[in-house]
Amino acid sequence: MTFDVHAIRKQFPVLDRTVHGKPLVYFDNAASAQKPNAVIDAMANQMRTSFANVHRGIHTMANETTQAYEAARETVRRFINAGVVEEIVFTGGGTEAVNIVAAGIGANIRPGDEIVLSIMEHHSNIVPWHFLRERKGAVLKWVDTLPDGSLDMDGLARQLTSRTKLLALTHMSNVLGTVPDVKTAITMAHALGADVLLDGCQASVNLVVDVQALDADFYVGTGHKIYGPTGIGFLYGKLAKLNAMPPFEGGGEMIETVTRDVATYNSAPHRFEAGTPPIVEAIGLGAAINWLEGQDRLAIHEHKQALLVHATEALRSVNGLTLHGTVPGKGPVIAFSLEGAHPHDIAQILDRFGVAIRAGHHCAQPLMSHLGVSATARASFALYNTLEEVDVFVEALSKARLMLS
Ligand SMILES: Cc1ncc(COP(=O)(O)O)c(C=O)c1O
Repeated sequence: MTFDVHAIRKQFPVLDRTVHGKPLVYFDNAASAQKPNAVIDAMANQMRTSFANVHRGIHTMANETTQAYEAARETVRRFINAGVVEEIVFTGGGTEAVNIVAAGIGANIRPGDEIVLSIMEHHSNIVPWHFLRERKGAVLKWVDTLPDGSLDMDGLARQLTSRTKLLALTHMSNVLGTVPDVKTAITMAHALGADVLLDGCQASVNLVVDVQALDADFYVGTGHKIYGPTGIGFLYGKLAKLNAMPPFEGGGEMIETVTRDVATYNSAPHRFEAGTPPIVEAIGLGAAINWLEGQDRLAIHEHKQALLVHATEALRSVNGLTLHGTVPGKGPVIAFSLEGAHPHDIAQILDRFGVAIRAGHHCAQPLMSHLGVSATARASFALYNTLEEVDVFVEALSKARLMLS
């Protein structure tokens, strides 16, 4: 299979647009990626040709929609190589998936039980654990990053104890791009009897994920970063662990029986899918994954790494610029600070040149404080970006630097 970035770009209609009269350069992919026609069409076609609520129906369109929804679940299973399809719960996004696990394991948390986190977690993989600290007396323990952005594995060894109930770790940082050695981290946590939740919201689009090979207990992903729609994500959990957790929300679909006196609950995945699920979004996610898997993923990886290397080299020569996260093997995300320039001002000027980057704390305030900054600018690359776009970005940044100095 070959990789032709221009053929790929043609499949993303939004990339044709201009911003402030300039061709769009979209480098905000770590926040949310653009959507190919395959996804837009799959969602529109479902609504145009066969839409109904799922699961309870007898009629033809209810069955067709249920089949499409459940086929999307099987697609997610295959995508992360889960053992059985029941281990895939559809959620409203990555954030909801972490909250389901926090509420689920929270039922068995006792005061003094420990949850170990890395300092580079997204707030989605921090705040639900703060809930357990506030409500259950859990103790949060932190593992720092080293100056190159890698995870301090010695620090991890020090923080894991026999009181650790869970290690909650990113599979790829949305700021530093770091891909920690999660396999070793999981082995270390399991040796002490702790479960591991991996936040795969960034990793699942950039790496080939195999939850069985990793032996992850829980794995979280989100649709909108995998070229799919918003409002849909997934939670993988080992089946016994999912079924041991109490339901997250109560309502239709998640029950076995309901009487005046008691309710009993369905098993996973329906146990965690109360109410009408995001049906069209799940189908869109399935279409996104099928589309991505239809591409040459190794070639995509190499292409994004080439963008990362080209941009990193160019930025290294910009006076007063600091790169945050330089560890080899990192994902295609570049967070940086420019002396004397606020990240918001940089992003605003770049927007005038048609270049979309993100500025702020990236929902990673503990990491910002560890880095000694309040915010950074961030450029992040997707498979449809080009080396020429990197040049446009670097040129625009040089102009921004002059304007702000
Ligand atoms: C690493 C990471 N985890 C979790 C999330 C949250 O995912 P969602 O937007 O689907 O709730 C994000 C999104 O920015 C992220 O980058």
